[in-house]
This record gives sequence, C-alpha cells and structure tokens, in this order.
Amino acid sequence: MTKVLLDTDPGIDDAQAIAYAIAHPDIELVGLTTVFGNASIDITTANALKLLDYFGASEVPVSKGAAVPVVQAPRPHAYFVHGDDGIGNLDMPPSPRDTSVFPAPEFIMNQASLHRGEITLVAVGPLTNIANALELDPSLPKKVKELIIMGGTVDEPGNVSPLAEANFLGDPHAADRVLSQSWPVTIIGLDVTHQIMLTDTHLASLRDGAGKTGQLLWDSSRFYVDFYTQSGAAKGGAEPACAMHDATALVYVHERDSFGTTHGPARVIEDGVAVGQLAIDRKHYDYSLDHWEGRPPTYAAMTVDAEHVRRAFLDTIIKGHRV
Ligand code: BDR
Ligand code: CA
Repeated sequence: MTKVLLDTDPGIDDAQAIAYAIAHPDIELVGLTTVFGNASIDITTANALKLLDYFGASEVPVSKGAAVPVVQAPRPHAYFVHGDDGIGNLDMPPSPRDTSVFPAPEFIMNQASLHRGEITLVAVGPLTNIANALELDPSLPKKVKELIIMGGTVDEPGNVSPLAEANFLGDPHAADRVLSQSWPVTIIGLDVTHQIMLTDTHLASLRDGAGKTGQLLWDSSRFYVDFYTQSGAAKGGAEPACAMHDATALVYVHERDSFGTTHGPARVIEDGVAVGQLAIDRKHYDYSLDHWEGRPPTYAAMTVDAEHVRRAFLDTIIKGHRV
C-alpha cells in the first residue's frame, strides 16, 4: 500500500482527486491537510471533512492549515471557478467531525516521522503548508518518500496570467522555498493537465457508474465545466469539458510510465510581472546571472499519455468507489 498524505484546497478538481485516492486499491490515505486557495481556509477545511464523510472515508483525519501565504498579501479566492462553497454550490450539510488537534505543518511532520521514508506527499493547492512544515522540521525532505506537486507550468501558458499557474501564484514564496530543498520532487503542471480534459461524456460515466460518489462528482463539475466553457479554457473539442488537474498528480503515483519529464534546478518568481512563474534551468549553460545555481533538480512532467491517465482515473473510481 502506498501511504499518501494529500495537501489540498477543495476545490472541485480536488474533490475528484480525493474520490480517486479513496477508491484506489493501493492507496492508503493517511490524511488530508487543508490550505486556502480555491476558497477560504474555513471553507476548504469544511469541504475536506464533508467530502470524506460523503465518500465513505470518515476514518481519514483532516488537519487545518494555512489561511494566508507565507509572505505575499492574500489574493482573492477562486469562487468564480469553484463556486461560493468551493465545490460547485452543492449545499452539502456540514460534517459532524472535528479536525485533528495538530495544525497542518505539525501533522505533516508527525506523519513523516511516524512512517519514515513511506509517505508520498501530494500537494494540490498553494504550497504554504509544505513551506511551513519545512520551517518546523528542516529534515522533512529526508523523511518523506517523495513530493508530487500539482502546480506551475513550464511551456504551456499559465491559467492566471500568461506565465503563472494558480497554485504557484497563490504562494510563490512558499513554492520557491519548497523547490530549493533536496528531495525527490515531481511537478505535474499545466503542461500535462491541460492535455487531460474530462468531457461531459467522461463525467457522465462517473455519474452513471460510480454510485453516490460519481453523482457528486457530476453535480460539482457542472459549475467548473461552465467556467471552462465560458472562459474558453476548455480543450475538450465540441463537448463541454474541464481539465483534470489535481487527480493527475495522484494518478502519477501508480502510472508514472505514462509521463515524460524534464528536469533541472527550479525557481518560482516571487513578484513583478512574472509573479508565480515556474522557471526550470533545462539547458545548464554557464549563465552569468545564475539564481539557479546550487539548487537540486526538480522534475516536471512535460508529456503524457492523456487517454491512459484519464482511463485510469475513471476506471479506478468506477471500480473502487465505496458509496
Ligand atoms: C489548480 O488550481 C486550483 O484552482 C485547482 O484546484 C488546481 O489545484 C489548477 O491550476
Ligand atoms: Ca487544488
């Protein structure tokens, strides 16, 4: 079993990732840590609890994380993408459960120490909790198995500016700190997630084949698909569609042969016109201005067998959903 700790800001596509993790026969979800992003921290935390309860995984602990970025002034949350409740305006009842007594950085640190070398940390929101966990325990990179990040973009244009992806813009200082550390890091950014579209036909196959879990994913995707259609961000062809961002980072855990990567020392631009941009030194020239020097390699997925990854996502939920 792969022990996965998911750092998340649910989020419509975060809900897809959570459903996938619960349904996967080889994933043990050791916890969700929450972060601001698609909605406020109170809303994303409430959503994490609600979604786990709804998907039949009330045993999974939720730990509340950061409300604001480490340095940058908070930016508006993405209610226009994910709805006022962050999950497509579903009007779900609140969970009766409480969050863990440990705040997210401590929770991450504890899990990494308890299961040394075994935790696959998957971060699909702004990287604030991971940066704060590093602050608390600088030896964290030696304790986790690997870190997989949904965030950033290398060649594909950004989704919040021509250069930046939303999670990296959400906390660029945190992202830059995380990429300064020596640990196995793989970025699953827009270069691949914009190639993996979920059309209404794909989403309807979940609605019709994955019980209550599939119905919720269909219902919550209505708001997201409308946003993609109206903003012109959809590449699903003639059909309404949305990109499969966060679940792709989780699918990578077991389907990594379907991805091609590049690597090099990486930086995230912290302010100015390029704020939030991920920049990887892929050429290793002897640059005169080398802000990349001394940084360990970061891997970034650039190519993907989109059909295979989408099928793995859909089939896993259809076969393994609990409710
Ligand atoms: C990322 O930003 C958020 O809106 C999504 O949940 C995803 O994690 C895509 O850029
Ligand atoms: Ca997210």
